[in-house]
Amino acid sequence: MQDEKNSFIYRQIYKRLKDDILSFKYESHEKLPSKRGMAETLNVSVNSVKSAYEQLLAEGYIYAKERKGYFIEPLDQLIIDPEAQTHLRKYEEGTPQLYDYSFSHMSTDMSEFPVDIWTKLMKRVFNNYEYYLSAIPNIKGPVELRQSIAKLVSYQRGIQCHPEQIIIGSGTNTLLKRLMQLLPKDVEIGVENPGYSRFRNLLNEAGINTIPLELDSKGVSIRQIKTADPNAVIVTPSHQFPTGIIMPVSRRIDLLNWASQTNSYIIEDDYDSEFKYQTDNIPSLYSFDKNESVIYLGTFSKTLMPGLRLSYMILPTALVQKFEAHNFDMIPDFSMLNALTLNLMIKEGYYEKYVKKMHQYYGRKREQLIEMLQREFQGVIEIKDTQAGLHFMVEIDSPYTYSEIETRAQAAKLELYTINRFSVKALKENSDKKTLIMGFSKIKIEKLHDAVQCLKKVLLG
Ligand SMILES: Cc1ncc(COP(=O)(O)O)c(C=O)c1O
Repeated sequence: MQDEKNSFIYRQIYKRLKDDILSFKYESHEKLPSKRGMAETLNVSVNSVKSAYEQLLAEGYIYAKERKGYFIEPLDQLIIDPEAQTHLRKYEEGTPQLYDYSFSHMSTDMSEFPVDIWTKLMKRVFNNYEYYLSAIPNIKGPVELRQSIAKLVSYQRGIQCHPEQIIIGSGTNTLLKRLMQLLPKDVEIGVENPGYSRFRNLLNEAGINTIPLELDSKGVSIRQIKTADPNAVIVTPSHQFPTGIIMPVSRRIDLLNWASQTNSYIIEDDYDSEFKYQTDNIPSLYSFDKNESVIYLGTFSKTLMPGLRLSYMILPTALVQKFEAHNFDMIPDFSMLNALTLNLMIKEGYYEKYVKKMHQYYGRKREQLIEMLQREFQGVIEIKDTQAGLHFMVEIDSPYTYSEIETRAQAAKLELYTINRFSVKALKENSDKKTLIMGFSKIKIEKLHDAVQCLKKVLLG
């Protein structure tokens, strides 16, 4: 008890002196009262003062002279840059943007997530995988998870690959970055337009030249690819982002033939094909490839949650050794704890069960949203390809420009994305037809009605 009391007193003296020194109540080199003198003034033990002085000495606020006592270190006043303060204030003001309704395509609905199962499996990871958790992880990820993914993609996506070809990462963005390090520095990458702008921006920021490729009714245009002659293309054949086009087999074959004839790579972003409606399983492009031209990107951001940050890449064998050599000294960026928990979730069948359940749940939401949109925007709406994924595209007549729609949506606390965000250049607005991306994963079924009413106000006034 006495020790606790002394420690409390010492901390108080230390803090008070530190605050006084920092607010320049002492002159530089001014002598502090002797320990005994200070103890008498404060009516505390000499030991408490001694501890406080020693702490201040250790942190460099005061210095000691033998047999003379303790003195204040000369401290410069911290210069406060008013500009920096302004930035900070601006940042704070703009931080949380909370929406009442969301048509985001990036989020998932967490209400059905089996938190209990996840927690139980995570506990098992703590108990059984200490050797993994207590060391720096393998750059490619734990072999157990890579084996589970190899099985998963075999029966879900028709992909035959060896677990050694699989690389785990904390998102497809970071995996794409790692992939780029394996390709020549002057590589040129063809990207879909409209397309996933995050990939395009990431590549451009890394100094990589991207070539926008237009789409036709079957997806990315082969004619355009042949004219642009890139070294690789990134495509979303199972559910083009954002238009929703499912690339037919004929176009897939053309694309694969282009890649093998020109010795180019196709990067297949297969981000949400687990969810498909009124259609059979959509095979992956990788499953058609016989020439090791396809690099496959898969993610758990849509099936589980984006906050998990777990994705994977399947490399052609020619790139596996290159990846290992290049990343020999690198530390991976994903959470081992989550990776191992996910492995158990897949291995024990919970993952498949959950995806099935969410598939039905999202399917119901999608149907209701389509019905409501058709009713509320009768005669002024066209709903585009809706067979797969967690979003679809719509064309709705609105007298407002895209930027007006975005501002109006913000003001109405509605999270809404227009095609403009995903197009390389701002679109010319020749007519009233406005293209929107309707994500239906985040919004709750019971909020759909109000969200559509809100959308109506934003678009029609
Ligand atoms: C087109 C597209 N590709 C890939 C991803 C997955 O990204 P990540 O694995 O980094 O979460 C998303 C996520 O929403 C996406 O919309």
